Amino acid sequence: MKLKTEKIRRAIFPGSFDPLTNGHLDIIRRSLPLFDEIVIAVLNNPEKNPMFTVEERCLMIEEVLPTINGGDCCLVVDSFSGLTADFARRKGATAIVRGIRAVADYEYELRMALMNRRLQPGIETVFLVAAEEFSYVSSSLMKQVFTLGGRVDGLVPASVEAKMRDKTK
Ligand code: PNS
Repeated sequence: MKLKTEKIRRAIFPGSFDPLTNGHLDIIRRSLPLFDEIVIAVLNNPEKNPMFTVEERCLMIEEVLPTINGGDCCLVVDSFSGLTADFARRKGATAIVRGIRAVADYEYELRMALMNRRLQPGIETVFLVAAEEFSYVSSSLMKQVFTLGGRVDGLVPASVEAKMRDKTK
């Protein structure tokens, strides 16, 4: 009898992650039951003048991942340049995970999803709805509030907050 070869359900979760927030972690947790492997894909975008280098961002995610119980899902961190759709294809992913916090996110995310589908018709975007408590949390807001002396505890992992402190010393 021929055994059916099991295909791994692999997704990428692309983003700037400058820095990683608890909102990102919420989306990662929600995507765990849906896939066998999720590649957290950090965009290397030198034009954006980030707070953290790509290497620092990958490391901060790798440090936090052990706090997540991945269950049967394998979590991997990688970085990429260029098109998200091309990176997803190179990785053999069939899905791109994106979080939706509020209606305001939808229009931008819809345009990206349609463009990515045009670029790679075999790859679907999966939108996951973020927890209400993180609906206003974005990396840029965290950076702005933190650099102006505001508190971001509970909104980013403690290890990330410590790294933000080091950066702004
Ligand atoms: O965390 P972000 O900044 O919202 O993530 C945006 C990201 C990285 C997913 C998006 O800017 C992107 O995909 N950039 C890579 C270049 C690309 O593929 N552009 C076309 C998107 S349709």
